[in-house]
Amino acid sequence: MRMMSNDSHLNQAIEQVRAVLGGEGAAPIVKGFFHEPTFTASYVVHDPATKVAAIVDSVLDFDQPSGRTSTESADELIDYVRSNGLSIKYLLETHAHADHLSAAPYLQEKLGGEIVIGREILTVQNVFGKIFNEGSDFARDGSQFGLLVVDGQTLELGETAVIALHVPGHTPADLAFLIGDAAFVGDTIFMPDYGTARADFPGGDARTLFRSIRRLMELPSETRVFLCHDYKAPARDEFAWETTIGAEREGNIHVHDGVAEEDFVAMRTARDATLDMPRLILPSIQINMRAGHMPEPESNGTRYLKLPLNTL
Ligand SMILES: [Fe+2]
Repeated sequence: MRMMSNDSHLNQAIEQVRAVLGGEGAAPIVKGFFHEPTFTASYVVHDPATKVAAIVDSVLDFDQPSGRTSTESADELIDYVRSNGLSIKYLLETHAHADHLSAAPYLQEKLGGEIVIGREILTVQNVFGKIFNEGSDFARDGSQFGLLVVDGQTLELGETAVIALHVPGHTPADLAFLIGDAAFVGDTIFMPDYGTARADFPGGDARTLFRSIRRLMELPSETRVFLCHDYKAPARDEFAWETTIGAEREGNIHVHDGVAEEDFVAMRTARDATLDMPRLILPSIQINMRAGHMPEPESNGTRYLKLPLNTL
């Protein structure tokens, strides 16, 4: 008798992983790309039978002192996609990132595909629309994205299924994408020796994050886990961005099996109080809440970002 909870969307995800591990359908092929300036891992993941692919959490290079963007990192993904003969169907965003600019619009222009984010992005657009005092030309209905998905929603990637799981806490809109037996968990858990994502941004909540993480931990222990970030860790000199649910349950320093919710909330809240805001939060949010598009140009043809003073 298999253990089932009454979380039907999670059960569907568990069944999907078991099917792939049991040999029904091929496991997707995942290629990670690590962007050291922002410690972000991006992925190209494809269905081996059809070569239909998705890109998860891409990065647009940004030099803040000059205000200049460039595409070297995104171009590496494009080279990989082209040299492997993949066709891009989705550009998946696990959330509106606060530490790097998304390259999704640039990748869409070069490779096609639909930009996907969680439906709760509307909340993020409302919160940050106020912080940046955006006018009515900034739509808060998610229309800058191609597809807004909700918990349990399934997308097709060739013969491989993508199940979206809503895992709020770091932000209200965070999704994990379960593609075959591979979970792209965004900013929830990091490598076992590093722990978990912060939960102190506007709309974030440590208790909600804990519950989202425990939900992910219900996936089979062999589930492959792909992280959005890595910062190394004491006693580790290499960046790493792939692990398993089993390794996280056993060894995650913040949320291994047995850690109580109250203890996690106390630890996370205390730790978050010591963290500086991410270096690129102001540019990142302004662009990522627009699905990676820049604000409209002003009358001189130049696009500008705002720097709200004494607000965050
Ligand atoms: Fe994030």
